[in-house]
Amino acid sequence: MKTITCLLLLTFVFACTNSKQEVTPQCKAETNQKISYQNDVKAIIDKNCNSCHNNKSHSGGVKLEDLRDLQFWANSGELYDQIIPFGGNPPRMPKGMPLTDCEVLTIKKWIDGGLN
Ligand code: HEC
Repeated sequence: MKTITCLLLLTFVFACTNSKQEVTPQCKAETNQKISYQNDVKAIIDKNCNSCHNNKSHSGGVKLEDLRDLQFWANSGELYDQIIPFGGNPPRMPKGMPLTDCEVLTIKKWIDGGLN
């Protein structure tokens, strides 16, 4: 009987967390709207990367200050490789705090869509 109560409780908790997710606003990258550097990607990079990769403190020799910088790293494949988990490890960038799924998807869509 105890097990059943527990299972029921668990189902409840899951149901609650699921319905919560439905309330969060939809990720633009999941719609068929176009993703652009200026409207979508720049803000993510400014917020999460440019404390270390701006024109002054280009950590690891990397700066991500403008479109050309970012296109360079996107074309080399490094940009995407750095922000996704790999081989069971957390993403390497940004150091400490991974991007949200929506942010990763936004960058992926931007790369796949031709880096404009
Ligand atoms: C807290 C500082 C910090 C933040 C924030 C940060 N980086 Fe870095 N980044 C570094 C350092 C330091 C290196 C040099 C390599 C290393 O130490 O891992 C680096 C290296 C890189 C490299 C080069 C990797 C290579 O193989 O040469 C890329 C690309 C990169 N970062 C992208 C990003 C992106 C994209 C973000 C945001 C999503 C970000 N970084 C956020 C500190 C940071």
